[in-house]
Amino acid sequence: MFVRVLGAGAGGGFPQWNCTCRNCQSARDGKPGFTPRTQSSLAVSADGQSWALLNASPDLRQQIAATPALHAKPEHGLRNSPIKAVVMTNGDVDHMSGVINLREAQPFTIYATRRVLGIVEDNSIFRILADNMVPHEELPLGIARPLTGAGVDLGLDCEAFDVPGKIALYLEDASAGPSFGTTSGDTIGLKITERATGKSFFYIPGCAQLDDALKARITGASHVFFDGTLYDDDEMVRAGLMPKTGPRMGHISMSGANGSIATFRDLGIGRKIYVHINNSNPVLDEASQERQTVEAAGWDVGFDGMEVRL
Ligand code: MLT
Ligand code: MN
Ligand code: ZN
Repeated sequence: MFVRVLGAGAGGGFPQWNCTCRNCQSARDGKPGFTPRTQSSLAVSADGQSWALLNASPDLRQQIAATPALHAKPEHGLRNSPIKAVVMTNGDVDHMSGVINLREAQPFTIYATRRVLGIVEDNSIFRILADNMVPHEELPLGIARPLTGAGVDLGLDCEAFDVPGKIALYLEDASAGPSFGTTSGDTIGLKITERATGKSFFYIPGCAQLDDALKARITGASHVFFDGTLYDDDEMVRAGLMPKTGPRMGHISMSGANGSIATFRDLGIGRKIYVHINNSNPVLDEASQERQTVEAAGWDVGFDGMEVRL
């Protein structure tokens, strides 16, 4: 099974268009040790020919251009694409709006929970993906189901499961109290299994907290791609970028007693890879103390074009 990180950045990417924080300005200036990252997406394939996207970021056009495996191929005719399916893990702009890049009457399947399919169906702009060409398949929670699209079985099973998180920012309902109206199916993680070999990995790009159920689920996993949004809960507040903490945004931090570094330590996971890394995160400075800390704890800091073979 082939996994490729198309974009390892969080919403806004790195550098973010309107940001002059130290990280963003260093990346914009081309300073060594600050590698730009596009917005959050992975691609996966069992055979290297037919691919599923895990999230569709607004940068998808650029990500396809940078990834020859995802190019249209002349030997398959005038119009074709190796992309057969798109799985969405929430309704965030960085994770689903980029599906519009896949218009032009090309068949593929969109997979998401009923909650997230509802966002696609309620927003008329997505009708550009005509439903006779781009069917929607609801992902049930806790049940593995085969990924197919354009008449192709990808040879991959996908199991969705709820993770602690938050409803998409633009749907927050302040009158609903601290949950902002979040319900089951708003934020999911995925377990992708290659049917022929039984090899699998977890993809959890947005997660507010590692609770006991989630820890039990991922214990002993060979590979986990995990929410690397923030190093510290309050790093965006301290930097003066915005007033929200990690818990308010629905993202766990790397550091701290309940952070991902500490919590993953005893879970016996083979390979731990941070994705969805926000531009404020000090690990994006390759010379930083924080970068050394996460690497010493056995984490890879994901980057665009990273290939992982299972
Ligand atoms: C997030 O990950 O918190 C969201 O991408 C925020 C956003 O939609 O801008
Ligand atoms: Mn995001
Ligand atoms: Zn920035």
